[in-house]
Amino acid sequence: MANPTLQRQVVVSLIFLCVTDAVAETLQYSIAEEMEIGSFVGNVANDLGLDNRKLGIRKARITSESSTQYFQLNMHSGDVVIAERIDREELCGQMVPCVLYFEFRLENPVHFQRAEVQIQDINDNAPMFPKKRLVLKIHELSPIKTPFILESAQDSDVGVNAVQNYTISPNKHFRLDVHSRTDGSKYAELVLETQIDREEQQEVNLILTAIDGGLPSKSGTTEIKILVLDANDNFPQFSQLVYKVELKENSDQNVLVCKVKATDKDQGLYGEITYSFNQVSEKVLKLFKLNQSTGEITVQGSVDFEEARMHEIDMQATDGGGLSAHSKVLVEILDENDNSPEVIITSIVSPIPEDSLPGTVIAVLNVRDRDSKENGKTVCSVEGVTPFSLRSSFKNYYSLVTEISLDREKVSEYNITIIATDCGSPSLTSQETVRVQISDINDNPPLFKQNSYTIYVNENNSPSLLIGTLNAVDLDYEQNAKITYALLPNEVGEISVGSYLSINPENGNIYALQSLDYEKIRDFQAVVRATDGGSPSLSSNATLHFQVMDENDNPPIILYPIQESTSLSSDLVPRSAQADYLVTKVVAVDGDSGQNAWLSFKLLKSTDAGLFNVVEHNGEIRTTRPMTERDNRKQKLIIVVRDNGKPSLSTTTILNILLVDGFSEPYMQLPDLHKEEGKDSKLTMYLVIALALISFIFLVSVVVFFVFKVIKTRRCEKKYFSATGNFYDDSNKPNNLIDIDGTGTLSQSYRYEVCLTTDSGGSEFKFLRPLLPNFPHHNGNVEVNLGINPNSQTLSNPVDQQDSPSEDAAKIFVEKKICREEYL
Ligand SMILES: *[C@@H]1O[C@H](CO)[C@@H](O)[C@H](O)[C@H]1NC(C)=O
Ligand SMILES: *[C@@H]1O[C@H](CO)[C@@H](O)[C@H](O)[C@H]1NC(C)=O
Ligand SMILES: *[C@@H]1O[C@H](CO)[C@@H](O)[C@H](O)[C@H]1NC(C)=O
Ligand SMILES: *[C@@H]1O[C@H](CO)[C@@H](O)[C@H](O)[C@H]1NC(C)=O
Repeated sequence: MANPTLQRQVVVSLIFLCVTDAVAETLQYSIAEEMEIGSFVGNVANDLGLDNRKLGIRKARITSESSTQYFQLNMHSGDVVIAERIDREELCGQMVPCVLYFEFRLENPVHFQRAEVQIQDINDNAPMFPKKRLVLKIHELSPIKTPFILESAQDSDVGVNAVQNYTISPNKHFRLDVHSRTDGSKYAELVLETQIDREEQQEVNLILTAIDGGLPSKSGTTEIKILVLDANDNFPQFSQLVYKVELKENSDQNVLVCKVKATDKDQGLYGEITYSFNQVSEKVLKLFKLNQSTGEITVQGSVDFEEARMHEIDMQATDGGGLSAHSKVLVEILDENDNSPEVIITSIVSPIPEDSLPGTVIAVLNVRDRDSKENGKTVCSVEGVTPFSLRSSFKNYYSLVTEISLDREKVSEYNITIIATDCGSPSLTSQETVRVQISDINDNPPLFKQNSYTIYVNENNSPSLLIGTLNAVDLDYEQNAKITYALLPNEVGEISVGSYLSINPENGNIYALQSLDYEKIRDFQAVVRATDGGSPSLSSNATLHFQVMDENDNPPIILYPIQESTSLSSDLVPRSAQADYLVTKVVAVDGDSGQNAWLSFKLLKSTDAGLFNVVEHNGEIRTTRPMTERDNRKQKLIIVVRDNGKPSLSTTTILNILLVDGFSEPYMQLPDLHKEEGKDSKLTMYLVIALALISFIFLVSVVVFFVFKVIKTRRCEKKYFSATGNFYDDSNKPNNLIDIDGTGTLSQSYRYEVCLTTDSGGSEFKFLRPLLPNFPHHNGNVEVNLGINPNSQTLSNPVDQQDSPSEDAAKIFVEKKICREEYL
């Protein structure tokens, strides 16, 4: 290539080393590389001072030392031109200077001339980076001004045409420093100017340009990729500062309470978050479970509102680099109605006296419910119908009071059930029982089952015989019901009842103190008082009627015929007497009563068997046939009088009968009879008179008595039956009334019918016939009961005994006939 400017730069230096023909001078030329073929290098002819017309004659030529002939000689002008393309980089590389040699030769004379051509560099190459892309890894936390040396660019050119400068694409983090090595080559350094944040920019892409110094300059570029390496420069962050959640109490296990979330901008491990509880109480640890990786808090214990209404959990989130953040979870527990109300008896008064006034406080109680609000509101009441009620004193306090007065004898103990219900839904209920005992007050007297009792006692009892038991009942309790029995002082005739009886104060057993004799005392009364042990004590009375039961202890006594050993009385019978003529009558009495006094007569022996006959039940002696002359004048009969007791007792008597002639009129017999009896008549007369007198007095007294009684009985309903058959008005009866018979046999005359009869038309009179009362048919029973099982049950109620015919009884007592023969 022919560059004029370069041509001008060619320095022609001719050095004349020798002036001889043979002297070799070195011709020096300089051309730029890459000149066009034919471009002028120099004119040798001129430079050597030769005539260029002679060149041809001298056969001038140039030869190159190298195999390639870069130069050519123009024979006409002597100019040397470029024959081949010359690339400096190819010929010399980085060598400086780069020189080519050729030889100029002449003949005639031979002449040699050496020439050198210096090849000048031109900027024909651009800088080049060995790699299209550079990757740089930079830690995000690298300090400012940290240098990063970059690979240099290459430029085949040399000198100023080589790389002279580097530039980088504009950015905010890096600047470029260009430095020179000792050989003058340049290199670039990337310097961190501002902190780079991975979280902001994960990589930086830059263009690095290398510029050479040619005119015009050329440049080459490469890409720089800067990867920002992560550092744990970010703290985790919770999504909320405080998490507020509500949790129902009694929530099931594994129920999710709350999920906390924390984030970390760092990458990888530095961005991995682990959750943990931070300094929480044991309670919270037991109650809640944390999934460390997900931040889920679940229930693992039993959540009880009553234990804690709020839980505060400090949370911590930690990343892989150890940085942590904190947050708080507030768990509010919601109440459920899971607690029944509690009834607490704070004080109780038991037992309470039965006479406590209505309104007396028995117990104070408190109702509690651990739930809150409606679930904790309670209502309290007494179950069922009781004489108790609740009064509310102040909030949740109640007193249990009596509403009416109490009676221990009806209900001695109450189990009062108090029910408390809360207002939750569904509501819960609980109950408590208060046991209240009622203490006794002596408000009940001892009570006998009956007001009066009848006790039958056999006569001739052994002293200290248990004859009965009285039992009173007291409805009170213990000491108030402890009964003491006592006999009230009372008179039995002239002897106090205490000499007959005694009572065991504790069990009411009644003992006879002495042997009783029916013939002396047939009945009597006593009053027993039962007193309880209360203070003051109460008492009540019962009347005891004692009936002495007859035993057959008295043999019949013959009143007629009078038995006297000295004088034998005789009954007279006229020989003219017909059959069934009443001769006389054996009269006998028996001190006993009833069956025991029921006499029967029997003919034991007679002089003339078959002449006389004794009527068994009345003792009449009658003839069985008319008298005859042959009959013995003196007849003697032995008669047995036997009572009906068991065993029966008997007495025999001897009756003398005198058969007389001419004593036919029966009524004539009477005076004779008395005369005949002559010796005994005095006594008999007294007897008859006494009997008549007593009977009369008795009759009068009975009449008076009856009149008196009739008036009384009309006033009173209640009657009882005495052994003697009277109805006594219980209330009016004198307490000390004890019937005592006279001691003599004849004093029992009221029990006999005194009768002078005309019925047979014969001369006879009935004399003191005993009337047999009808009552002993229950005798045996009573004896057995009293002797063996003397309890109050067997004591017959007098009213029960009204089965004994009252008519008979009345007859015993009342009916007294005095029949007189018309002629008397
Ligand atoms: C390199 O280039 C920069 C930017 O183009 C310039 O500021 C600087 O002066 C140049 N350095 C040299 C030695 O020419
Ligand atoms: C945490 O939760 C994950 C995802 O649900 C589960 O795979 C893991 O087992 C749980 N870890 C614990 C300790 O429960
Ligand atoms: C009260 O309760 C007690 C104990 O449970 C029981 O022994 C008693 O018989 C009860 N009393 C009544 C009157 O129910
Ligand atoms: C019991 O009898 C006594 C004496 O007769 C009398 O004073 C007392 O009032 C009586 N008591 C009762 C409760 O009847």
